Amino acid sequence: MDGPEKKYVLSTYDRIGADYKQTRREDTRLARLIARELREARTVVNVGAGTGSYEPADRFVVAVEPSDVMLQQRPPKASPAAQAIAERLPFRDEAFDAAMAVLTVHHWNDQDAGLRELSRVARDRIVLLTWDPSHEGFWLMRDYFPQFLEADRQRLPPVERLLNFLADAQVITVPIPHDCADGFLGAYWRRPRAYLNPEVRSGISSFATCRDLSPLQRLEEHLDTGEWQRRYGELLEAEALDIGYRLVVGRPSSGCP
Ligand SMILES: C[S@@+](CC[C@H](N)C(=O)[O-])C[C@H]1O[C@@H](n2cnc3c(N)ncnc32)[C@H](O)[C@@H]1O
Repeated sequence: MDGPEKKYVLSTYDRIGADYKQTRREDTRLARLIARELREARTVVNVGAGTGSYEPADRFVVAVEPSDVMLQQRPPKASPAAQAIAERLPFRDEAFDAAMAVLTVHHWNDQDAGLRELSRVARDRIVLLTWDPSHEGFWLMRDYFPQFLEADRQRLPPVERLLNFLADAQVITVPIPHDCADGFLGAYWRRPRAYLNPEVRSGISSFATCRDLSPLQRLEEHLDTGEWQRRYGELLEAEALDIGYRLVVGRPSSGCP
């Protein structure tokens, strides 16, 4: 890689991605939702593909991922992968039926350029999984790490901006199951002690780049004294919760900004 791609190489996931596969595994329920939204697409490009989660096995998929550390963790049988960035996809116009991008747009240096590229290389369908920055978040972000909420509101694209890049778009709420297998930030909303585990935190970019972990002491105290249960105990009854994750889906737009 050269130019802007080269600049990526020493970036976030080469630093924090070494143990990604330990905690970031595909959740089959989320995989089903993504596959459903890909509709009849036979050929799919998965941009910001990481280690290969959510790549449907019954279609021809090409992955795009800039980080060596992530590429090295792709299983031997995973789809073929190109080392490249969303902002400059090495494919001709309309090369694929669909493009998908799962929990990655907020990591791109130039989100608009990447979204334009998705519209350029996809013929029929774009499927994005993201977090809506207008959502209030969940207890961890609100009461313990408000800096995560602030940072995510800065880096996650507003859903309205994503809609500018799609035609006939739809925004689908994705409730997160209480036992979600993919350990992203919100995955442990019903398993609060998980956030005390360094291995769990290492798979979550907000934690992996966070210098002040002192709120974890308060969380541990609250769990030990029953204060957490007093505040949030009713969550323990819920099977799935809307904490702001959204599928934003539609057709590629010819009038991208
Ligand atoms: C949270 S991970 C998600 C990976 C995968 N989609 C998944 O759901 O497991 C974000 C990924 O985006 C990749 N990424 C960061 N900047 C990128 C860019 N400019 N273009 C494409 N991918 C990028 C990272 O290297 C990382 O693999």
